[in-house]
Parts: sequence; C-alpha cells; structure tokens
Amino acid sequence: MTGFDAAYVHDTAPWDVGRPQAAIVRAAETGLVRGRVLDIGCGTGELSLYLAARGHPVVGVDAEPTAVARARRKATERGLDVEFCVADALDPPELGRFDTVVDSGLFHVFDDPDREHYVEVIRSLLRPGGHALVLCFADTASGGGGQPDVAGHINYTDNCKPSISDCQDRIQAAGATVNKINGIDTMHNINLLISTKVDDVRTDNDNGAAAITGGGLDFGANAPSDEVTLTNGTYYLENIDLDDDEKLILDTSSGDVTLAVEGGIRLEGSGSGGGTIEVQGDGSGNIYLHGEDARYGWSDDLQMEENSGVLTPNDNATQFKLYGPDDLSVSVGAGTSNLAKFVGVLFSPPGRSGSARVDIDGGEVYGGILTGTTTIDSGSIHYDEALRNTQVISRDSKVVRVTYLHVTINRIEASSG
Ligand SMILES: C[S@@+](CC[C@H](N)C(=O)[O-])C[C@H]1O[C@@H](n2cnc3c(N)ncnc32)[C@H](O)[C@@H]1O
Repeated sequence: MTGFDAAYVHDTAPWDVGRPQAAIVRAAETGLVRGRVLDIGCGTGELSLYLAARGHPVVGVDAEPTAVARARRKATERGLDVEFCVADALDPPELGRFDTVVDSGLFHVFDDPDREHYVEVIRSLLRPGGHALVLCFADTASGGGGQPDVAGHINYTDNCKPSISDCQDRIQAAGATVNKINGIDTMHNINLLISTKVDDVRTDNDNGAAAITGGGLDFGANAPSDEVTLTNGTYYLENIDLDDDEKLILDTSSGDVTLAVEGGIRLEGSGSGGGTIEVQGDGSGNIYLHGEDARYGWSDDLQMEENSGVLTPNDNATQFKLYGPDDLSVSVGAGTSNLAKFVGVLFSPPGRSGSARVDIDGGEVYGGILTGTTTIDSGSIHYDEALRNTQVISRDSKVVRVTYLHVTINRIEASSG
C-alpha cells in the first residue's frame, strides 16, 4: 500500500477536504477552465465533479484505486457523468487531448526527474491553445520558513527543481500555458478574465426580470425614471451613462450584484449634482469592465465628473470592486469645487505592457487602487479603507509602494495641477 492509498483507506488524507480547492473554483468561476478537462491526480474527485456540474466533459485520473472508487461512487450518488480511471499520471493511457488540465496538488508530490517528465506529459495531453492550471506549493514564500505566503492559498516554500516557474516557461515555450493559480498576476490573466466574464454574462444572461434588458443604461433626456435598482444576480450592460442626479442602485441585501459592462461607464456631473452608482445592503457590488471607451467618444473607461459618486454604506470600500483589463483608464473628478467620490477597489494590474491608469483631479478615492500609474492633480486617496487602515495620500504625499493580493506593485505619481 502506498502512502497515498493508506491515507485514503484510513481516512487520514489532509488534502481530502470534501470540496474542490477554493483557488481552482475561483479560476473556474472567472473562465480560466475551458472545454474538455483532465483532472490529473484527482483524488476522490471533488474537483472533477464540480467541473462536470459546471458542464465540462471531465476525465479524472489518479494512481490510487481507493480514491478512484470513492470518486466513482460520488459521481453515481450525484448523478454526474465523469470518466474516472486508475492510472499513473506519468504514464497515462490513451485519453485524447484536453483544453484544460487541472492539477490540484499533484505536481509537488513528484521529485526532480519526475517533474521533468510531468511537463512532457502535460504538453502531450493538451490541445493547441490549451492550458494547465496548477495548484502547488510556491517556489518561494515571503513569510519564510515554509509559512504560508498569502492566506487562502496553498503557498509554501518548495526548493525542488524544476520549480513551477521553470515548468511554466517550458510549457509556454511549447505553445501552451501554465497559470499559477495564486492570484491574477499577469496581463494575460486579467485580460482573459475580463473578456471571458463579460462574454459569458452576455451569452448566458438576459438580465432576467430586471428593469434593464441589455443595451446600455442611459435614461435619456425624457426618461420616466431616473433611478434603477438591481438586486442579487449577474447582469450585462453595454455601457452606463448617468446624467446629473441619475442613479444605479446595486441592492445587495439579498445577495451580491455583479455587472459585466462591455463599454465604458460615464457618471456625468454639474455644480448641482452628478450621476451615482450606489451599493446598498451588506453584500458586494462587482463590475467587470471591458472598457472600450473609444466607441462612445468618452475619454476614459470609467469617467466620473464633478459631484458624481460610486458609493457604499459607511464608505466600506470592500463592498465595491471594479475589475478592468490592463489598459483600463479611470478619471475621478473634473474641477475642484464639487468633488467626485469613488469608494471601492479598482483592480487592473498593468501586466507586461499594459498602461492602466487612474487620474484623480477634483475627486476622492476611498479604498484601494491596483493599477499601473495613478496621478493626483487635486483631491486625494483615502488609501486602504478596504484594508481598514486608512492613510490619506494627496498630491504632496510620499510615493507609496503597495502590494495587495500579491498581484502587483502600485506606482503612484503625484504631479502638480
Ligand atoms: C495531494 S493529493 C491531491 C488530490 C486531489 N487532487 C485533491 O485536491 O484532493 C495528490 C494525489 O495525487 C495522486 N498521485 C500521486 N502520484 C500519482 C501519479 N503518479 N499518478 C496519478 N496520481 C498520483 C495521489 O493518489 C493523490 O490522490
């Protein structure tokens, strides 16, 4: 009996947590798992079954018969169709090619030579354009001494060679990709995430019974109502264009509200008022913004003019998150007398060649900014409201370096107005 089989037989497998690992679930929810899937080293099948329930054709492979028998039993109990087989991942039988290989904890059980071989096997199992998602111990741990790098993920020091980064390079050189699922840490991933999310929502969602039915949200000059409320669910909009005193309410009292927006968001303003997006309730409002502002002649993907607002209860920035691609552009405020106010987290890591930027000119930002360059002409950032550690950054403040979600280093440039 191997160590793995003994752990399954005696029910002592610490990794067998009765559900798929959260990091891979998040990856699947954001569209990183595609088409036909191989769950390599599938254990008792929780991840395979989760992905099958999401509609993927799935093959699960594990070397241990006890684990595979358990996985098959679960599939029958749950009425899910997954092909589970007992096989050595390093010498797999003919399984065909896959769009996605998911590895939840297998890679790091191999020693050096087997890792070399594993890379070759994965490469041979992927279709052109396919990719592998590997959840494994990290190459390094900032905590040192094998401490978890970032809470919520499996991240420990791993000195084996080749490292996951070495393997990633090699698999990429062969035309496929391996994404380390410990964050969204490359331009490729954030752009893929945004376009997949927006496409999926547009395809799958007709906005249900909501007061909006696709198209843009623009009340127009003679609109019957200047306010629309969306309750828990996921919605698609081509753009959002709110004039003075017009309001989009994301009512999260019965669950989170998520919007996928193809184009841009313009919150117009004047001395008397401005357009507003307001989160109500205890949940989160999330916007995935493709941001093709040029189509509308807007200068920015999120354009907030004087007096406009993105607001949450008690300025709780964790309740609003805006995810944009690596070239997202945001302006908060125009003019200095009537401040625009943004409360939330702006997330668009710039990646290798991205040019994400946030311009604050007559506006206040409460929360976190995770983009490329931020300029503050006037106004300020109440940075870290999201992390409950407010620090006000204004034009004369020192440049700060910020790491958040271990994704990106923030660069804030203060320029004179
Ligand atoms: C850490 S466990 C992870 C199991 C499962 N993916 C999960 O997340 O619960 C590693 C798994 O890899 C399997 N395994 C180890 N060596 C293998 C090999 N050469 N081929 C196939 N499976 C293997 C073990 O039996 C075990 O189920």
